[in-house]
Amino acid sequence: MKALVLAGGKGTRLKPLTTTMPKQLLPVANKPILFYVLEQIKEAGIKVIGIIVSPETNPFIKEAVENGSRCGVRITYILQPEPLGLAHAVKIAQDFLGGSPFLMFLGDNLIQGGVKPFVEEFNRYHPEALILLKEVPDPRLFGVAEVDPSGKVIRLVEKPEEPKSNLALVGAYLFTSEVHHAITQIKPSRRGELEITDAIQKLLDMGKNVRSYILTGWWLDTGKKDDLLEANRVVLDEYLKRDIQGEVDSQSQVVGRVEIRQGAKVEQSLIRGPASIAEKCQIKKSFVGPFTSIGAGSMIENSAIEHSVFLENCYIFNIERLADSIVGRDTRVVKQEQDFKAVRLFVSNDAKIELP
Ligand code: TTP
Repeated sequence: MKALVLAGGKGTRLKPLTTTMPKQLLPVANKPILFYVLEQIKEAGIKVIGIIVSPETNPFIKEAVENGSRCGVRITYILQPEPLGLAHAVKIAQDFLGGSPFLMFLGDNLIQGGVKPFVEEFNRYHPEALILLKEVPDPRLFGVAEVDPSGKVIRLVEKPEEPKSNLALVGAYLFTSEVHHAITQIKPSRRGELEITDAIQKLLDMGKNVRSYILTGWWLDTGKKDDLLEANRVVLDEYLKRDIQGEVDSQSQVVGRVEIRQGAKVEQSLIRGPASIAEKCQIKKSFVGPFTSIGAGSMIENSAIEHSVFLENCYIFNIERLADSIVGRDTRVVKQEQDFKAVRLFVSNDAKIELP
């Protein structure tokens, strides 16, 4: 079996972060999302992986993942010139996939417990497609599946106004090579994309066996700001272990599951986990609260921060309370000492600033 990871796309909803980096490389608990995806694929026993990249994401993803040998997998890069849909990505990967069955995994999605049980289910029943479903509170926002009691899929509807079930399609799919025939028979949707739901519906119309696997754990799509914060919260909460490699002075307190990586220094501060502080950070006279990840080389001084994600080399100074925020690389957030009441900004396109 092979895997196809989708790491193209536009990432519009995560601008401005995605102006300078692919969303699949944004960090969750100080590790790029794509690395979790590749680890989960390897854990399911698949080592031959194709990664779909766009002209924009291509150089970044190649630099981060290289040929995969460091994590024990073999990577082939497949360039998708335009984001013409998930089924289009499968279409252009046809040479790489050949006649092999394959796991398709969205490169910005996280699945609790990984995909090993999902792949095992596919190998047990040998359907033409196995789709991963999750019960969601508002199915109208998703592709929705109707399934019979044995788990066979009867029908799929994209963003239905009156959903027949609360089972949404989530970020991983398993296919045999039959899906390529189905894709040749579908047309672009109203938004101009070749939709994977249409391809799966086509398999059903062709009388093929499409089964479902219901995910009971969490599934996180990191496509928007609040989703990324939520992913950071859940992953820190669930996986982080206490590991103090950096220096903590005698006037500081580190409470609970906190990771302080090598070269980081904590002085006169309180760190309350779960929190991840990456290499070479400096935390001075500050409070770092739960569900915070601070990227390498950042400096937090005289400030209180919590439930936030900071990328590399941020500088936060004199901020009484910073929460629920995502702060991009090399950003300075500083409160001046003087009595000067104006807010002074030097921000780029698509920035979002909320002041109290
Ligand atoms: P989406 O999040 O649906 O698409 P997007 O990246 O264009 O996001 P936005 O709506 O914010 O602009 O895509 C899910 C995943 O699939 C994501 O990792 C990007 C990837 N993808 C491709 O590789 N090729 C494509 O043609 C599309 C549509 C998505």
